[in-house]
Amino acid sequence: MKIRKCLFPAAGYGTRFLPATKATPKEMLPILTKPLIQHGVEEAVEAGIYTMAIVTGRGKRAIEDHFDISYELESQIKGGSKEELLSEIRLLISKCTFSYTRQIEMRGLGHAILTGETLIGDEPFAVVLADDLCTNGDSDGILKQMIEVFNRYQCSVVAIEEVPKEETFKYGIIDGDLVYGRDDVYRVHNMIEKPNPKDAPTNMAIIGRYILTPDIFDILRNTKEGKGGEIQITDALMEQAKHDRVIAYKFKGKRFDCGSIDGFVEATNYFYNNS
Ligand code: G1P
Repeated sequence: MKIRKCLFPAAGYGTRFLPATKATPKEMLPILTKPLIQHGVEEAVEAGIYTMAIVTGRGKRAIEDHFDISYELESQIKGGSKEELLSEIRLLISKCTFSYTRQIEMRGLGHAILTGETLIGDEPFAVVLADDLCTNGDSDGILKQMIEVFNRYQCSVVAIEEVPKEETFKYGIIDGDLVYGRDDVYRVHNMIEKPNPKDAPTNMAIIGRYILTPDIFDILRNTKEGKGGEIQITDALMEQAKHDRVIAYKFKGKRFDCGSIDGFVEATNYFYNNS
Protein backbone atom coordinates (compact mmCIF):
# COMPACT_ATOMS: atom_id res chain seq x y z
CA MET A 1 0.00 0.00 0.00
CA LYS A 2 1.19 3.48 -0.81
CA ILE A 3 2.03 5.91 1.98
CA ARG A 4 -0.16 8.93 1.21
CA LYS A 5 -0.38 10.74 4.54
CA CYS A 6 2.03 12.20 7.03
CA LEU A 7 1.12 12.89 10.65
CA PHE A 8 2.80 15.70 12.57
CA PRO A 9 2.29 15.56 16.34
CA ALA A 10 2.58 19.25 17.20
CA ALA A 11 0.71 19.80 20.42
CA GLY A 12 3.67 19.89 22.85
CA TYR A 13 4.50 22.99 24.85
CA GLY A 14 8.17 23.39 23.91
CA THR A 15 9.10 24.39 27.44
CA ARG A 16 12.82 24.06 26.72
CA PHE A 17 12.57 27.13 24.51
CA LEU A 18 10.71 29.42 26.89
CA PRO A 19 10.21 32.33 26.68
CA ALA A 20 10.38 32.02 22.84
CA THR A 21 7.60 29.43 22.89
CA LYS A 22 5.29 31.33 25.23
CA ALA A 23 3.08 32.54 22.38
CA THR A 24 4.79 30.85 19.39
CA PRO A 25 4.52 27.12 18.69
CA LYS A 26 7.93 25.44 18.94
CA GLU A 27 7.30 23.97 15.47
CA MET A 28 7.36 27.53 14.12
CA LEU A 29 10.86 28.31 15.38
CA PRO A 30 12.94 28.91 12.25
CA ILE A 31 16.14 27.34 11.11
CA LEU A 32 17.35 30.30 9.05
CA THR A 33 14.12 31.60 7.50
CA LYS A 34 12.12 28.37 7.48
CA PRO A 35 10.03 27.08 10.41
CA LEU A 36 10.91 23.59 11.65
CA ILE A 37 7.55 22.19 10.57
CA GLN A 38 8.04 23.45 7.02
CA HIS A 39 11.32 21.53 6.85
CA GLY A 40 9.32 18.44 7.88
CA VAL A 41 6.58 19.04 5.32
CA GLU A 42 9.18 19.45 2.58
CA GLU A 43 10.76 16.14 3.58
CA ALA A 44 7.33 14.48 3.27
CA VAL A 45 6.69 16.04 -0.15
CA GLU A 46 10.08 14.83 -1.35
CA ALA A 47 8.94 11.35 -0.31
CA GLY A 48 5.81 11.70 -2.47
CA ILE A 49 3.37 12.54 0.35
CA TYR A 50 0.96 15.42 -0.16
CA THR A 51 -1.62 14.94 2.60
CA MET A 52 -0.47 16.48 5.87
CA ALA A 53 -2.30 15.64 9.09
CA ILE A 54 -1.34 17.88 11.98
CA VAL A 55 -2.21 17.23 15.63
CA THR A 56 -2.22 20.62 17.30
CA GLY A 57 -3.25 22.02 20.65
CA ARG A 58 -4.01 25.30 22.30
CA GLY A 59 -1.83 28.19 21.13
CA LYS A 60 -0.87 26.56 17.82
CA ARG A 61 -2.91 28.68 15.42
CA ALA A 62 0.25 30.08 13.80
CA ILE A 63 0.86 26.65 12.19
CA GLU A 64 -2.49 26.81 10.39
CA ASP A 65 -1.85 30.38 9.28
CA HIS A 66 1.59 29.44 7.98
CA PHE A 67 0.14 26.86 5.58
CA ASP A 68 -2.44 29.30 4.25
CA ILE A 69 -2.40 32.40 2.07
CA SER A 70 -1.90 35.74 3.77
CA TYR A 71 -3.76 38.06 1.41
CA GLU A 72 -2.67 41.26 3.06
CA LEU A 73 0.99 40.28 2.93
CA GLU A 74 0.69 38.96 -0.63
CA SER A 75 -0.79 42.20 -1.93
CA GLN A 76 1.85 44.24 -0.06
CA ILE A 77 4.84 42.50 -1.64
CA LYS A 78 3.35 41.65 -5.04
CA GLY A 79 5.72 42.51 -7.87
CA GLY A 80 8.53 43.48 -5.49
CA SER A 81 11.89 41.84 -4.79
CA LYS A 82 10.60 40.14 -1.62
CA GLU A 83 7.95 38.14 -3.47
CA GLU A 84 10.51 35.45 -4.28
CA LEU A 85 10.86 34.68 -0.55
CA LEU A 86 7.34 33.23 -0.51
CA SER A 87 7.77 31.00 -3.56
CA GLU A 88 8.63 27.78 -1.67
CA ILE A 89 5.78 28.02 0.82
CA ARG A 90 3.34 28.97 -1.97
CA LEU A 91 4.35 25.85 -3.86
CA LEU A 92 3.79 23.67 -0.78
CA ILE A 93 0.35 25.17 -0.20
CA SER A 94 -0.65 24.55 -3.80
CA LYS A 95 0.58 20.94 -3.83
CA CYS A 96 -0.57 19.74 -0.40
CA THR A 97 -3.64 19.57 1.79
CA PHE A 98 -3.37 20.31 5.50
CA SER A 99 -5.86 18.97 8.03
CA TYR A 100 -5.84 19.60 11.74
CA THR A 101 -7.19 18.05 14.86
CA ARG A 102 -6.59 19.09 18.43
CA GLN A 103 -5.15 17.03 21.24
CA ILE A 104 -7.12 18.19 24.24
CA GLU A 105 -4.95 16.61 26.94
CA MET A 106 -1.18 16.09 26.77
CA ARG A 107 -0.80 12.38 27.43
CA GLY A 108 2.31 11.56 25.43
CA LEU A 109 3.40 10.83 21.87
CA GLY A 110 1.36 7.63 21.62
CA HIS A 111 -1.77 9.53 22.64
CA ALA A 112 -0.98 12.30 20.12
CA ILE A 113 -0.68 9.71 17.34
CA LEU A 114 -3.95 8.08 18.40
CA THR A 115 -5.59 11.53 18.31
CA GLY A 116 -4.54 11.72 14.65
CA GLU A 117 -6.49 8.56 13.73
CA THR A 118 -9.44 10.65 12.60
CA LEU A 119 -7.22 12.27 9.94
CA ILE A 120 -5.42 9.08 8.89
CA GLY A 121 -8.05 6.33 8.81
CA ASP A 122 -7.23 2.74 7.94
CA GLU A 123 -3.98 3.00 5.98
CA PRO A 124 -0.23 2.98 6.71
CA PHE A 125 1.18 6.45 7.30
CA ALA A 126 4.33 8.39 8.08
CA VAL A 127 5.01 10.32 11.29
CA VAL A 128 7.39 13.28 11.50
CA LEU A 129 8.43 14.88 14.78
CA ALA A 130 9.35 18.32 13.50
CA ASP A 131 11.91 19.02 16.20
CA ASP A 132 14.08 16.24 14.79
CA LEU A 133 15.32 18.00 11.68
CA CYS A 134 16.73 15.57 9.13
CA THR A 135 18.68 16.16 5.95
CA ASN A 136 20.60 14.10 3.47
CA GLY A 137 21.88 16.98 1.35
CA ASP A 138 20.88 16.54 -2.27
CA SER A 139 20.38 12.77 -1.91
CA ASP A 140 17.18 10.96 -0.89
CA GLY A 141 15.67 12.29 2.34
CA ILE A 142 15.07 10.14 5.41
CA LEU A 143 11.33 9.60 4.85
CA LYS A 144 11.91 8.68 1.22
CA GLN A 145 14.47 6.08 2.31
CA MET A 146 12.05 4.73 4.92
CA ILE A 147 9.24 4.35 2.40
CA GLU A 148 11.51 2.19 0.27
CA VAL A 149 12.14 0.03 3.34
CA PHE A 150 8.40 -0.11 4.07
CA ASN A 151 7.65 -1.14 0.49
CA ARG A 152 10.04 -4.04 0.89
CA TYR A 153 9.00 -5.30 4.35
CA GLN A 154 5.36 -4.10 4.63
CA CYS A 155 5.41 -3.45 8.36
CA SER A 156 6.11 -0.55 10.71
CA VAL A 157 9.51 1.11 10.28
CA VAL A 158 11.41 3.27 12.79
CA ALA A 159 14.46 5.35 11.91
CA ILE A 160 17.44 4.74 14.17
CA GLU A 161 20.80 6.27 14.89
CA GLU A 162 23.61 5.24 17.22
CA VAL A 163 23.91 7.59 20.20
CA PRO A 164 26.49 7.76 23.00
CA LYS A 165 25.52 5.13 25.58
CA GLU A 166 25.10 7.77 28.31
CA GLU A 167 22.30 9.40 26.27
CA THR A 168 19.97 6.41 25.99
CA PHE A 169 17.66 7.97 28.61
CA LYS A 170 16.55 10.54 25.99
CA TYR A 171 15.27 8.05 23.39
CA GLY A 172 13.34 4.94 22.59
CA ILE A 173 16.04 2.26 22.29
CA ILE A 174 15.74 -0.82 20.09
CA ASP A 175 17.38 -4.20 19.95
CA GLY A 176 17.16 -6.42 16.91
CA ASP A 177 18.85 -8.69 14.39
CA LEU A 178 20.31 -7.51 11.13
CA VAL A 179 18.22 -8.70 8.21
CA TYR A 180 20.16 -11.09 6.01
CA GLY A 181 22.17 -9.31 3.33
CA ARG A 182 21.75 -5.80 4.81
CA ASP A 183 23.83 -3.72 7.17
CA ASP A 184 21.20 -1.04 7.82
CA VAL A 185 17.95 -2.95 8.42
CA TYR A 186 17.11 -4.70 11.71
CA ARG A 187 14.15 -6.89 12.63
CA VAL A 188 13.28 -5.46 16.05
CA HIS A 189 12.72 -7.81 18.98
CA ASN A 190 12.94 -5.39 21.90
CA MET A 191 12.23 -1.71 22.45
CA ILE A 192 12.42 0.32 25.65
CA GLU A 193 11.38 3.94 26.13
CA LYS A 194 14.17 6.10 27.57
CA PRO A 195 16.11 3.46 29.53
CA ASN A 196 18.92 4.31 31.93
CA PRO A 197 22.23 3.55 30.21
CA LYS A 198 22.73 0.53 32.47
CA ASP A 199 19.39 -0.97 31.36
CA ALA A 200 19.73 -0.10 27.66
CA PRO A 201 20.15 -3.22 25.49
CA THR A 202 21.97 -1.22 22.77
CA ASN A 203 22.76 2.36 21.83
CA MET A 204 20.44 2.32 18.80
CA ALA A 205 18.02 5.20 19.32
CA ILE A 206 14.71 5.88 17.58
CA ILE A 207 14.61 9.33 16.05
CA GLY A 208 11.47 11.24 15.11
CA ARG A 209 10.53 9.43 11.89
CA TYR A 210 8.15 6.48 11.75
CA ILE A 211 6.11 4.57 9.20
CA LEU A 212 3.23 2.93 11.05
CA THR A 213 0.70 0.35 9.97
CA PRO A 214 -2.86 1.28 10.99
CA ASP A 215 -3.30 -1.58 13.49
CA ILE A 216 -1.19 0.70 15.73
CA PHE A 217 -4.36 2.64 16.57
CA ASP A 218 -6.10 -0.34 18.18
CA ILE A 219 -2.90 -1.20 20.01
CA LEU A 220 -2.57 2.40 21.26
CA ARG A 221 -6.16 2.34 22.52
CA ASN A 222 -5.12 -0.55 24.76
CA THR A 223 -1.67 0.70 25.72
CA LYS A 224 -1.27 1.56 29.38
CA GLU A 225 0.62 4.60 30.59
CA GLY A 226 4.35 3.91 30.52
CA LYS A 227 7.47 5.99 31.09
CA GLY A 228 6.62 9.37 32.62
CA GLY A 229 2.96 8.37 33.05
CA GLU A 230 2.41 8.89 29.30
CA ILE A 231 1.07 6.68 26.49
CA GLN A 232 4.26 5.77 24.63
CA ILE A 233 4.43 4.91 20.94
CA THR A 234 7.48 2.79 21.80
CA ASP A 235 5.32 0.52 24.01
CA ALA A 236 2.68 0.17 21.26
CA LEU A 237 5.36 -0.66 18.69
CA MET A 238 6.71 -3.33 21.06
CA GLU A 239 3.38 -5.14 20.64
CA GLN A 240 3.94 -5.21 16.87
CA ALA A 241 7.58 -6.21 17.39
CA LYS A 242 6.42 -9.32 19.30
CA HIS A 243 4.96 -10.48 15.99
CA ASP A 244 8.08 -9.47 14.00
CA ARG A 245 6.20 -6.51 12.58
CA VAL A 246 8.75 -3.74 13.23
CA ILE A 247 11.84 -2.88 11.22
CA ALA A 248 14.51 -0.45 12.40
CA TYR A 249 16.32 1.36 9.64
CA LYS A 250 19.69 3.03 10.09
CA PHE A 251 19.13 6.00 7.79
CA LYS A 252 21.63 7.82 5.63
CA GLY A 253 21.97 11.49 6.46
CA LYS A 254 22.09 13.82 9.44
CA ARG A 255 19.62 14.54 12.18
CA PHE A 256 19.57 17.54 14.48
CA ASP A 257 17.73 17.52 17.80
CA CYS A 258 16.14 20.94 17.46
CA GLY A 259 14.20 20.33 20.66
CA SER A 260 17.47 21.19 22.44
CA ILE A 261 19.31 24.50 22.27
CA ASP A 262 22.59 22.80 21.24
CA GLY A 263 20.93 20.88 18.40
CA PHE A 264 19.06 23.97 17.26
CA VAL A 265 22.26 26.02 17.04
CA GLU A 266 24.07 23.15 15.30
CA ALA A 267 21.28 22.90 12.70
CA THR A 268 21.29 26.65 12.16
CA ASN A 269 25.05 26.62 11.53
CA TYR A 270 24.81 23.58 9.28
CA PHE A 271 22.09 25.09 7.08
CA TYR A 272 23.85 28.47 7.05
CA ASN A 273 27.04 26.84 5.79
CA ASN A 274 25.37 24.46 3.35
CA SER A 275 22.72 26.51 1.62
C1 G1P B 1 9.94 10.70 21.48
C2 G1P B 1 9.81 9.18 21.65
C3 G1P B 1 11.18 8.53 21.73
C4 G1P B 1 12.01 8.92 20.52
C5 G1P B 1 12.06 10.45 20.38
C6 G1P B 1 12.72 10.84 19.08
O1 G1P B 1 10.48 11.23 22.66
O2 G1P B 1 9.04 8.92 22.81
O3 G1P B 1 11.03 7.13 21.78
O4 G1P B 1 13.30 8.39 20.66
O5 G1P B 1 10.75 11.01 20.37
O6 G1P B 1 12.90 12.22 19.00
P1 G1P B 1 10.47 12.81 22.97
O7 G1P B 1 11.69 13.37 22.32
O8 G1P B 1 9.20 13.36 22.39
O9 G1P B 1 10.52 12.92 24.47
